Amino acid sequence: MEKLTIAIQKSGRLTEKTLKILSQCGLDFHIKKDVLFASCASYPAELMLVRDDDIPAYIANGTCDLGFVGENVLEEKVLKNNNYNLDIPIIKKMNYGKCRLSLAIPKEENYESIKDFEGKTIATSYPNILNDFLKSKEVNAKATMINGAVEITPKLNVADAICDIVSTGGTLKANGLKEVAQIYQSECVLVESPKSICDEKRKMIDQLLQRIEGVLSAQNTKYVMMNASKSKLEKIKQILPGAEEPSVMPLAHSSDKVAVHIVCKEEVFWQTMEQLKELGATSILVLPIEKYIQ
Ligand code: PRP
Ligand code: ZN
Repeated sequence: MEKLTIAIQKSGRLTEKTLKILSQCGLDFHIKKDVLFASCASYPAELMLVRDDDIPAYIANGTCDLGFVGENVLEEKVLKNNNYNLDIPIIKKMNYGKCRLSLAIPKEENYESIKDFEGKTIATSYPNILNDFLKSKEVNAKATMINGAVEITPKLNVADAICDIVSTGGTLKANGLKEVAQIYQSECVLVESPKSICDEKRKMIDQLLQRIEGVLSAQNTKYVMMNASKSKLEKIKQILPGAEEPSVMPLAHSSDKVAVHIVCKEEVFWQTMEQLKELGATSILVLPIEKYIQ
C-alpha cells in the first residue's frame, strides 16, 4: 500500500501547530526524540522531520509528496531562485505561522527612508528576496548570506543591518535592534510535489486537503446555543456574525420561548452575548467547533 510522505519543520515556529492540525485531521504520529521519520498508525502516511530550508528541495525532487513550509522559505529557495527549474504548487494557505521579513538596524541609529541602506552591508538568510527588494527600490546595498543567528551580526561588525524573519519581535528586541521596513509577508503553506503522483496518493491528498479545510474552517466557527423568544429570532440572526440558518426547537413547559442553535462563521465576543441578553435570550452558550464540513 502506498504511503504519503509529509515533510515538516523539525523544530521551530511551525512544528507544534502543524502537528496539531495533522492530529485534528486524524493523523497522529509517534515522534521519537532525534529520529527524523515518524510513522502513523491511523493513516497511511509517514512524516519527515527536517530543516525548513530543506523542505523545498525534498518537494521538488519528489522525496516527499507534501510539505508544510513557510512561504518565505519557499519564495527564497524556489520562486526567486531558479534552482530546481520547477514550480512548486501551493495547495493551501494554512493561516498560521504568520510573520514578516523585515529590515532592522541597531535601535540607537536614526532612520529616515529605505535610501539609508545605500552602500550598507545587510546580513540575511534570504539574499534572493532581499536583492529583489533592493533592486525594486534602486538601493545599492550588499546582502551577506548568514545561515543562523543573523541578529548578532551588527554587534560583531559583520553587517550594518539585518534582514530577517520577525514574528513577535522578541528576537530583535533582545538583540538591541529595531524593525524599520517590512519587505515580505509570510505564513505557513502546504505544498505538493510537482513530480507525478499515483492515483492512490492523489486520492489521499484530496482527502487530507478536505480534512484540513474542515479543520481550518472550524477554527473561528462557533456553535451558539440559547433560549429565546420566537419573536426575536430575526434580530438574533442579525446580531450574530456570519450566522447560518438557526435550528429552532420547542422548550418543554414554554409556549413562547424556544431553544435556538446557530453555527457562526466568526468569533463571538462578549459584547455580542450581552446584546443577545438584552433581547431576552437566556442560557447563552458559545462552543468551539472542532471539525466542520459544509
Ligand atoms: C525566525 C528568525 C528569528 C525568529 C523571530 O526564525 O530567524 O530567530 O524567527 O521570531 P520573533 O520575532 O518571534 O522573536 P524561524 O522560526 O523562521 O526559523 P529558522 O531558525 O529556520 O530561521
Ligand atoms: Zn530555517
